[in-house]
Amino acid sequence: MIEQTLLLIKPDAFKRRLVGKIITQIEQEGFNIAEISLKSLTQEEAEALYEVHRGKDFFEPLVSFIREAPVIALLLERKGAIGHLRKIIGKTNPDEAAPQTIRALYGTSIRRNVVHAAESREAFEKEVRIFFPDFKP
Ligand code: CMP
Repeated sequence: MIEQTLLLIKPDAFKRRLVGKIITQIEQEGFNIAEISLKSLTQEEAEALYEVHRGKDFFEPLVSFIREAPVIALLLERKGAIGHLRKIIGKTNPDEAAPQTIRALYGTSIRRNVVHAAESREAFEKEVRIFFPDFKP
């Protein structure tokens, strides 16, 4: 079944001009780009995006990092999109990510790990509205 998911290309990738390489890899994996948005997050939007991590020691530096430069959000479509995107971005920590995954290729630390992908249908529905306020499922 064709499913939708959300990919965020983070400020570290934007500043290092890795956007094109990352989108090429996404297209080669069979995803269609349904929407794309370049957005500088407000403090409130950044906190809402990472709300589940509020209270953890990395929350404040994470919110500050995601506001360092714009984020590029892609609304993607593919069969099994949520699971497949998680697989090809690799584990959160680039040192543990499988070879050739986006984080293994370009990530430099657990915080500066170049991309974020929605981890579930519920997370997708919440996150997509931060970047595409008119989104209708
Ligand atoms: P992301 O997929 O965007 O979801 C939450 C982010 O928090 C995660 O990627 C990492 O960038 C960051 N993160 C998770 N654990 C840690 C940690 N221990 N230290 C710093 N950042 C972390």
